[in-house]
Formats: sequence, C-alpha cells, structure tokens
Amino acid sequence: MNQQQQITRQTFDDVMAPNYAPAAMIPVRGEGSRVWDQQGKEYIDFAGGIAVNCLGHCHPALVGALQQQGNQLWHVSNVYTNEPALALAQQLIDATFAEKVFFANSGAEANEAALKLARRYALERHGEGKDQIIACNHGFHGRTFFTVSVGGQAAYSDGFGPKPGAIDHIDYNDLAALEQAMSERTCAVIIEPLQGEGGVIPASDEYLRGIRELCDKHNALLIFDEVQTGVGRTGHLFAYMDSPVVPDILTSAKSLGGGFPIAAMLTSSEIAASLKVGTHGSTYGGNPLACAVASAVLKEVNTPAMMANVKDLESYIRTRLDAMNEKYQVFAEVRGKGALLGAVMNDAYQGRARDFLTAAVAEGLMMLVAGPNVLRFAPALNISPAELEQGMDALERAVAKVSASS
Ligand SMILES: Cc1ncc(COP(=O)(O)O)c(C=O)c1O
Repeated sequence: MNQQQQITRQTFDDVMAPNYAPAAMIPVRGEGSRVWDQQGKEYIDFAGGIAVNCLGHCHPALVGALQQQGNQLWHVSNVYTNEPALALAQQLIDATFAEKVFFANSGAEANEAALKLARRYALERHGEGKDQIIACNHGFHGRTFFTVSVGGQAAYSDGFGPKPGAIDHIDYNDLAALEQAMSERTCAVIIEPLQGEGGVIPASDEYLRGIRELCDKHNALLIFDEVQTGVGRTGHLFAYMDSPVVPDILTSAKSLGGGFPIAAMLTSSEIAASLKVGTHGSTYGGNPLACAVASAVLKEVNTPAMMANVKDLESYIRTRLDAMNEKYQVFAEVRGKGALLGAVMNDAYQGRARDFLTAAVAEGLMMLVAGPNVLRFAPALNISPAELEQGMDALERAVAKVSASS
C-alpha cells in the first residue's frame, strides 16, 4: 500500500483542526479542468479551488515557470529583492492604473495591507481622527482579525474578543446609505466590484460612480477588493476596467497565482509613499517561486483570446442554465459576470444550494455555493468546450435528481 491509499477522509478528522468540513472524496490529480479522486473517479472542476485555478490544473506554462524557478532561487525574503518579483510588479504596473506594488501571500493579507495603508495615508495627510473605514454588509475580505471585522458578516468576526474599531457597514448597491455614512472622518471605502462570497452580486455602474464621487468629495481612498474578480475572471483583466471608475488601491490574490499562493496590493506612487521602510512587511511576500508562476499566469491570461473564451463560457453556461430552468424551475435568476456566475435558488428551493452541490459531486462535478441560496460557478478561464459541456451535463443530471426528490 502506498501512502496515498492509507490516507483517507477519516485522517482529516484525526489530524486536522476542525474548522473546515471538506467533501468526502479526496482529489489526488488534476489536468486542465479535470480532477481525479483517490478512487480514480473523474470530475469536471467548476470550483477552481474557489476561483483560484484560472488556468486549470497543472497548466504546462505554470509548471514550466515553477520548475525553472525551482532550479534557480527559492526564497530570499525582503532583506533582498529578487528578479521574478520585480518583473511581476512591472507587468502589473504596465497592465493597470498602478504605479507601485506590494506583494503578500493571500487575499486577506493584501487587504490587511490596503487597510493599514489607507489608515496611515490618512494619518499622514490629514492628521488624527480620519480613521473611519466603510465596508458593505455581506462583503468578504479575508479572515485576519482586521479584514474579517471589515467584512460584512458579524458571524465570522464575533467571538474573538474586542474588534478593531472605526469600521462601519452599509448595504451593497445603496448609494444613499453610503452618502449618509460618509464624512471627513472617512479614510477609506472598501468594496468588491462584484460580491463573491456574499452571493455573486454585481455592483451597478451608477453605484460605483457614486462611490468614487463621494470618496473624492471626502478625501477618502477607494479600495477595490479584486481578490475574487481579478486576473481575467469577469472577462477583463480586472473588473474595474469594465466599470466607470478607477480605484486608489486594488487587491488581487486567488487567480493571480493560478493555484500558487500569492497576492498583490496595487496603488499609486503617492499613496504607496506612506508605506515607509518598516511600516509593513511579510517574510514570504514576493517569493520568487510565487512571482515566477504569477508572471506566467498574467502572460497566459491577459490576452484577447482568453478574455473572449471567458465571454463564450459565460454565454454557454447561461444558455444551459436557462434550458435547465425551463425543464425543472429551480433558479430565480443567474447573475454575475464571465467565469464568476451564480444561479440563485427560487422560492421553492430556498436554502438548498448545497443540495445541488452535493448532487453535482455525485455526478462528477465540483461546484461552489455562495451562501445558502446561490450555486456558484468559478471554472478555469481556459476550460475547453468539451469540459464545459461535460460539466453542464453533470449539473443537469444533478438538478434532475434534486428536483425529482423534492
Ligand atoms: C473578495 C475576497 N477578498 C478576500 C478574500 C480572502 O482571500 P484569502 O482566503 O486568500 O485570504 C476572499 C476569499 O474568498 C475574497 O473572495
């Protein structure tokens, strides 16, 4: 028996902290948008490691970049800089509004950096008292104590003692509420241009335009959390590029490494200047292995052909979901953009998104939910038509089963 056969799902319960409840099957191999479990069963992957594997599994360009860097230089910390980090920063700057980059290892860390920077910038520019951070109910920004407190679900931040202060929440897409909450005390507004975990809810252009205007009026920074929407997922390199506004700070993670942990905070030179030597840092941030992989990701993703594929896959998924819904009447609507879509349960299926996910796994399809009422799709941007069709066929079987048993 090899080691893999001895490790089972029971091992998780034996050795891991119980804060996750992983599926019964254990994936052991992936290629493109296909994954195989310990028993050799094949799955189509519409989950992508929670909107991370933007180029699927084991993409040759990413494997190549990792192998090449792995044979050259693994890690030096930020006591030294390194070539892959500088090359990646330049790529990000060339492709976006940004003039400066800070690297981290996760979305939460990138947001932590953004929030700390906003507070420091406000302090330096405007003095004490300009410390209010405004965020949205049902927003999600990570699990560090600062980011989870800024996130809009008290259930995730309650029970850990006193929370960081000067954080206020308003409803998403409610410009009047933001207008009321903002004042000269506001140092930053942080927003997902399309709420992911909160239920795959897009922000309207009008709302984003209004936020930008209010931030300018009150000398507050606008932070776009593009951890989930970034790196091609919405059919644009970053979601802000298809909106009427440009943020002051943008955070990216998830797809940036295509499965290798890396995150980035992008901003202007003027704002970045507040992160003086010693104000913030990370041992692993800007690690050469991660940066080499992310460079390869950007090269593959930031092309018209890839963005066209994202638009095609969106229209295929929507067409198939509409057809399924005609037959089975389960969804109230399909929302989202590009390769980040949510099928919202109708009245008859309230709270049952997970039943569809469980049925999908049995049919050979890995999916996500976003709350109890939304079945979430986050496939690889380069998923092939055959993989996509196989996945939607599996979903249709799952939908038929759930509706038959209801
Ligand atoms: C919008 C958004 N921000 C931040 C995070 C946190 O990222 P990480 O889990 O890499 O810390 C997530 C994760 O789901 C996210 O969707």
